[in-house]
Amino acid sequence: MTTNWNGAGRRIHMQEVGTRDGLQAEDAFVPTEDKIALVNALSDAGMAKIEVTAFVSPKAIPALRDAEIVMRRIERTPGVVYSALVPNVRGAERAIDALTDELNLVMSATESHNLSNLRMTREQSFAALSEVNAIARAGAVPVNVSLSCAFGCPMEGDVPAATVLDWCACYVEVMGAHGVTLCDTTGMAYPTQVAALVRAFRERWPETELTLHFHNTRGMGLANVLAAIDAGADRFDASLGGIGGCPYAPGASGNVCTEEIVHALACMGFETGVDMDRLLAASRRLPALIGHDIPSQIVKAGRRLDLHPVSADFEATRQRALGRGAAH
Ligand code: COA
Ligand code: ZN
Repeated sequence: MTTNWNGAGRRIHMQEVGTRDGLQAEDAFVPTEDKIALVNALSDAGMAKIEVTAFVSPKAIPALRDAEIVMRRIERTPGVVYSALVPNVRGAERAIDALTDELNLVMSATESHNLSNLRMTREQSFAALSEVNAIARAGAVPVNVSLSCAFGCPMEGDVPAATVLDWCACYVEVMGAHGVTLCDTTGMAYPTQVAALVRAFRERWPETELTLHFHNTRGMGLANVLAAIDAGADRFDASLGGIGGCPYAPGASGNVCTEEIVHALACMGFETGVDMDRLLAASRRLPALIGHDIPSQIVKAGRRLDLHPVSADFEATRQRALGRGAAH
């Protein structure tokens, strides 16, 4: 296996999911105006795609019960794709009515997680997705399918790559989906597994938009992103501040943090199109919105070249050290 982590200007598309995957997990209801301002700030920062919200049952995810208003009132930056998560026909109708650019359909690779998250068997979910797909096609709205627990399930354990690829075949070849997202819902993915799955997907469906969606639950998030890039991926979901997590997956925690990934990729010479100052400004406003600290290491530590002044007694220390040198 060759390692090609020298970015050399290679384009990596960063897709923000903090306003959906992030806010869905929060107890606090972030006021609608603040959500809109957050999406606008993320557009200004240069994200390629923003998953603005979810058109799900307001009983299942009360934090996103204002989906229509948010989607309708954000400022649309040309070139940015504004997507939304949609679980069923009702959600698709609401999303299309609110002028969503892309529908993100979701089901799980395992029966246990699909039943806990969507209250359906996988077969029932696929039938529902196909119905949603028909509605999206009629409205000429592109469809992406997100496959949860593609790298492991908190209730069933390992998920065979063949199972994941079989479902992908249903989305790409049967439904004609424009894109597929492989989701590591509870941070069970590891780099060699990621590389193998990305390669297998890319070989079979070179034209399909492939997104990787990692959670940093076990600290492997950035390693997984790099392994995926090495295997040919160029599109990643990430969440501002590193917030997030599926409320219906035991042990779920934050997505990979947008500013950490953008920072690391910039160091290595990749081109994400994201303005780090704007991104950090948006992230620093998050704790006030959600009422708690955020995981972001970059907000805590700053960028690697955000230098610190030397200590006040630096000159005296230097003189003393030089004096000691002269005495010997
Ligand atoms: N938008 C708004 N309301 C919806 C809806 C949608 N997309 N889908 C269902 N509902 C409402 C129904 O109208 C019904 O309301 P009522 O009780 O007032 O009549 C209620 O939700 C239950 O509907 P039902 O069709 O019986 O669905 P369900 O209870 O089996 O729920 C889901 C299925 C998938 C719609 C629901 O569990 C859901 O939205 N889950 C969200 C999962 C999620 O986002 N997880 C995290 C991201 S992976
Ligand atoms: Zn997620």
